[in-house]
This record gives sequence, structure tokens and C-alpha cells, in this order.
Amino acid sequence: MTTGPAETPPGTAGVLVVIPTYEEIGSLGGVLDRLHAAAPEAHVLVVDDASPDGTGELADARAAADERVHVLHRPGKGGLGPAYVAGFGWAAEHGYAVVVEMDADGSHPPERLPSLLAALEDADLVLGSRYVPGGKVRDWPAYRLALSRFGNLYTRWALRLPLADATGGYRAARADLLARLPFDEVASEGYCFQVDWAWRAHRAGARVVEVPITFTERAVGRSKMSSSIVGEALARVTWWGVRDRLADRLPGRLSHPVPARVRDEGGAKVLR
Ligand code: GDD
Ligand code: MN
Repeated sequence: MTTGPAETPPGTAGVLVVIPTYEEIGSLGGVLDRLHAAAPEAHVLVVDDASPDGTGELADARAAADERVHVLHRPGKGGLGPAYVAGFGWAAEHGYAVVVEMDADGSHPPERLPSLLAALEDADLVLGSRYVPGGKVRDWPAYRLALSRFGNLYTRWALRLPLADATGGYRAARADLLARLPFDEVASEGYCFQVDWAWRAHRAGARVVEVPITFTERAVGRSKMSSSIVGEALARVTWWGVRDRLADRLPGRLSHPVPARVRDEGGAKVLR
């Protein structure tokens, strides 16, 4: 056992937290306050899709008063995936080293950000995970928890993706990983976007680590989850899984939807 000085918290300079918003006026301010308290040096980019409730104006007012806060306005509700792709592009243009995804409704505790960033020191992508030991979900109705657990188990099996919470939306990534992934090909609009790029990262050989979080259901506003978002995820994951297995059987005739650049060979990871 080594005993030494208390661990210094990881630096939060060069970190951009991307927060997509659609009608989150009741929660965004509190989330920004908690985030600044937990990670004072981190910058924030609010990506607002012209929320009718004034969320974009609230974000503008916060940005005018605080140089750590930035806002990207999009012309209308275009889905979670495109909002994040726009935010990742903005992060790359501005040279941030680390990019974080976080919901605006308070479900993702900003207080866990230092732990996610600490884990990123030996990883390329860190997932805030509800379904690893220590992870929790608070105040979700049984049907929603069942849907999320089933979605994750199904994804894990269909895509052969060894992650406990690939659908979650609280994560930290190195900018150089994001730069390597083809986000122009990521067509998913809804929350399936999270699965899509976690799979691409895994197949690209990224070191993916899961850190437990407690997800607490929002206290104000409402979820944008809908049956069409669930349907998109189920259809895409199923199609990708089928294509992926067919490509295994028909090498040379069919390509994998997300090709592996790293394969396990004889216990060692081999770069292709
Ligand atoms: N800009 C933009 N555009 N933001 C959006 C859009 C959109 O079309 N749709 C949703 N958002 C924002 C919300 O304002 C919120 O900040 C965040 O995306 C998550 O939306 P919620 O509607 O609160 O999601 P949820 O709580 O139902 O879903 C949670 O579980 C999903 C599945 O596990 C989240 O943690 C998701 O990130 C996660 O994928
Ligand atoms: Mn939510």
C-alpha cells in the first residue's frame, strides 16, 4: 500500500461541457451553478434549438456575465444527436482538449465531473454509468427503468458492445478521439446517438471506462423521450447488429456497418 499526499483533483482547464437544451428554462441555471462550483475552470457550451420557453435567452444572459459560458443557437428542434454534433464541431474549432456531454435537467450530477475527468487520464472515453456497481437511478417510474435496462442489455448483445450503460448521456471524451470518429456519418437523431458513437469509439480501439453515477429524474420540465425516439433506437440497433453478423459471414462481400480497427487476437489487441 502506498500512502502519500491527498490526490490532487484533475485540472479542468481545456474542458468544454456541452449541454443540449430544449425547453429547460427551469433547470439550466441551477445546473450551470452546480457545474461552476464542481469544476470552476471548465467552460460550457449550451446548444439550444430555439426553445420557445426562453432557454436560449437565459443562456445568452449567463454567457454575457461569465466568460466560461458560450451558446450555440440552432434554428429549430433538430434532435439530440445533431445538437451534439454541432457542439463537438464548435469544441474542435476552439481547441478544447476534453469534451463532456451533460443533460440540462439536473439528472447528471455535475459533482461527479471531477471523477469522470480523473478516469479520463487513462482512457479515451469515460461513461457516467447507472448500471455498474455503485451506479443508481433515482425517481424513475418502473417502466422507464425497465426500458433503459432492456435497451442496454439488448444493445450489449446485438452490437457485441461490452458496456453496461451505452445509452447514457453523461460522458467525457478526449478531443482527439472525437476527431477520429466520422460524426458526419452518424445519422441518429435521438438518444440512439449515444449508442451509435459509443460503438464507433469501441470499434475504433478507444479505451472506454465506466464510472458509477447516480441519475436523478428531473424535478422540473419534461422529458423529450418519445416512442419515435425509442423506435429509432430499436430499429437502428437491430439493423446494425444484423449487418454486423452478416458481414462476419460474408467477408469481402459485405462490410461491417462499423468496422473494427482493433481486434482481439490471441489475447492481445492488434491494430489494423
Ligand atoms: N438542443 C436540443 N435539441 N436538446 C435536446 C433535444 C433536441 O432536439 N432533445 C433533448 N434535448 C436535451 C434536453 O433538453 C436535455 O438537456 C437532454 O437533451 C436530455 O433530454 P431528456 O428529455 O431529459 O432525456 P431523458 O432524461 O428522457 O433521457 C436520458 O436518458 C437517455 C437514455 O438513457 C438522458 O440521460 C439521455 O442523455 C439518455 O440518452
Ligand atoms: Mn432527462
